[in-house]
Amino acid sequence: MDHFLYRDGILHAEDVAVADIAAQVGTPFYVYSAATLTRHYTLFTEALSPLPHLVCFAIKSLSNIAVLKLLGDLGAGMDVVSGGEYRRAVAAGVPGSRIVFSGVGKTREEMRLALEGGIRQFNVESEPELRALSEVASAMGTTAPITIRVNPDVDARTHEKIATGKKDNKFGIPISRASEVYAEAAKLPGLQVIGIDVHIGSQLTELEPFEQAYKKVADLTLRLRSEGHTISRLDLGGGLGIPYERSNSAPPLPHDYGALIKRTVGHLGCEIEIEPGRLISGNSGLLVSKVIYVKNGEISDFLIVDAAMNDLVRPSMYGAHHDIIPVTEAKAATLPHAYDVVGPVCETGDTFAKARPLAPLAEDDLIAFRSAGAYGAVMASEYNTRPLIPEVLVKDDQFAVIRARPSYEDMLNRDTIPLWL
Ligand code: LLP
Repeated sequence: MDHFLYRDGILHAEDVAVADIAAQVGTPFYVYSAATLTRHYTLFTEALSPLPHLVCFAIKSLSNIAVLKLLGDLGAGMDVVSGGEYRRAVAAGVPGSRIVFSGVGKTREEMRLALEGGIRQFNVESEPELRALSEVASAMGTTAPITIRVNPDVDARTHEKIATGKKDNKFGIPISRASEVYAEAAKLPGLQVIGIDVHIGSQLTELEPFEQAYKKVADLTLRLRSEGHTISRLDLGGGLGIPYERSNSAPPLPHDYGALIKRTVGHLGCEIEIEPGRLISGNSGLLVSKVIYVKNGEISDFLIVDAAMNDLVRPSMYGAHHDIIPVTEAKAATLPHAYDVVGPVCETGDTFAKARPLAPLAEDDLIAFRSAGAYGAVMASEYNTRPLIPEVLVKDDQFAVIRARPSYEDMLNRDTIPLWL
């Protein structure tokens, strides 16, 4: 469920007409709903209660500091994967005690930054990283709380570019070698082992792969405990998928996912962490765009819109589907027309949808891409020297620009011409 609904045929974000935002901010832009973000976060905390738990929002999916503040104020933790994301979490007022640091390539500078600023735990992904972290923490006269990310060799049955839990992925240590690696970690002076971490992939539309992975984690917990390790925390990663195509998909709900967690690891007496990104942010955001031209081609009719692959890369990168809706609702009797929806970037890959049935549209009409809150703005680039587009947050009848559109001057001034040229 989200808070982007038609009222009298006009698309609203909560109580604000999307066209009013477009008139003030210009297109294209991202708009997020505070109520939807809140609702999705709350669904997870409710699903995990009464287990002791922390829902750590995966910042990589939507990292605007205003959004992080909203979630942080609700009590959310944050899952960060870079020094930059760590800084964002801190800037949003989230205490280090609620920040977990994931990622396969943490640098020593990033480790120092988090140890100085405070960190709940590092999710360590390799033996060299264990040694580096121990050295950094020891040199600072402290110890780093850690879990070790295990790779359970489970097929997440999702897009190959976002599956992470198979043997041939770069993530974690093989679960078969866990005893050995935990034994080494326990000997290193700068580390305090507190738990296990697992994350098998993103946009999972079935619970079964989670079930397989979490059962393996439960077995491992008992084994590591019998080997003398303290396992008091389980970080179970993110990955629960969302319905991108409303007409024909219904992935499991947070409630069912919570029940699965209770069933598989609830008896272990561990504190549970999860790292959802997409399910909290995905359907909390729209990308709003304007039709520049309708071009009648030989085979298809093209809807050329002012958003492009640099603003929302998911369709061209993963072949991802985003529902597209008109900002002014079509009359019930209108017959749809099939359009190829494309952006202005000079690549055939700059295609959002092919032969998509939509109500007939004309120049200057506004459209919205649904489910664009996750991995939208954060993956944007300035390809074709197109400025990054603004982000807007709506709460009830108020809205605010939470990232302004840069000026062309801002963009061009980042380049410097060397004196010797
Ligand atoms: N935790 C870790 C360690 C992760 O690597 C990820 C996502 C998450 C949590 C959050 O997963 P989520 O709940 O959002 O599925 N750009 C791709 C998705 C990449 C996901 C990367 N890791 C896309 O647009 O589909």
